[in-house]
Amino acid sequence: MSNTSLRGRDFLTWLDFSRDEIEMMLDTAHDLKRKQIRREKHHILEDMTLNMLFYNSSLRTRNSFEVGMTQLGGHAPFLQPGAVYTPALKGEEKAYSTERISDVARVLAEMGDAIAIRIYGKPTGWQYGKGNLIVREFAKWSRVPVINMEDDMYHPCQALADVMVMQEKLGHNLQGKKFVMSWAYSGSVEKPLAVPQSAIISAAMMGMDVTLAHPKGLDLDPNVLNATKDLAKKHGGAFRIVHDMDQSFEGVDVVYPKAWTVQPTDGSGVMDPEKAKAVFEANKGWIATKEKMALTNDAFYMHCLPADRDMEVTDEVIDGPDSIIIEEAANRLHGQKGMMALIMG
Ligand code: CP
Repeated sequence: MSNTSLRGRDFLTWLDFSRDEIEMMLDTAHDLKRKQIRREKHHILEDMTLNMLFYNSSLRTRNSFEVGMTQLGGHAPFLQPGAVYTPALKGEEKAYSTERISDVARVLAEMGDAIAIRIYGKPTGWQYGKGNLIVREFAKWSRVPVINMEDDMYHPCQALADVMVMQEKLGHNLQGKKFVMSWAYSGSVEKPLAVPQSAIISAAMMGMDVTLAHPKGLDLDPNVLNATKDLAKKHGGAFRIVHDMDQSFEGVDVVYPKAWTVQPTDGSGVMDPEKAKAVFEANKGWIATKEKMALTNDAFYMHCLPADRDMEVTDEVIDGPDSIIIEEAANRLHGQKGMMALIMG
């Protein structure tokens, strides 16, 4: 397969790509990482521009895209709604403070080679699917590729880094390796579903033995669960859901404990913070501890960061020898470079 199959494509969710296409991105990412370590110049995107729009805060995503574009020979301007006219869907514009997405997308496409967007949670009123709708509206109007830097359904760039770090730790072929995506307690209910949904999709696409663990009432999107089930079947992996954190940790190779909110995913309404808080507080025991890690097969501990210490995880675990969070975060840079080199190059 040549990279022409990827040139010009949007990167919104792994579900839009075949395993071969994702593996091409991952292989390119590993290759560019080696080049960067050896300080070999790799200006694949010389003088090209990625325009980035952030409706939400970010440390890793913003910095990894900016640094990544610099290392590829290009540039990544940072645009923040509030500092520009906030891009809005048709019918949601407010005079003087917003601008219709169809105009924003077409203008930015004339001034760069790709557009990247982050939008979830508060800027969407916690209406599930609205962030994804906004990202897709950009993709509809932009003549250059659109990259999803995390919406309320998917975080496909995080998934690239997650799979890369697992390949580095467990071997390139992840087939049959046991992976757990577990809910974990947090003092904040403002936690989108994007990371766990992209994590189970990506692990299943790589043929892993995937367990999703969460207390009752914290279900993920049924469409994502069905897609994960299909991917597991297609790629020779497995997928199951359990409601016991200890049980999910038994004998596994990787654990990824992280909070996500109680979110209606059927269009019936928005996230209700009071209802979510009640579910969260009833499940404070869902924390990654040394005792739980002892149930695993010397598993690696992963988290997309930022983590809620002493709530999702103890310091002992997140700072312990099995934690690979810093390498995972570092791979945000390399994974995205591999992806951008192929869709923009
Ligand atoms: N994991 C992640 O997306 O981090 P940021 O919110 O800092 O970008």
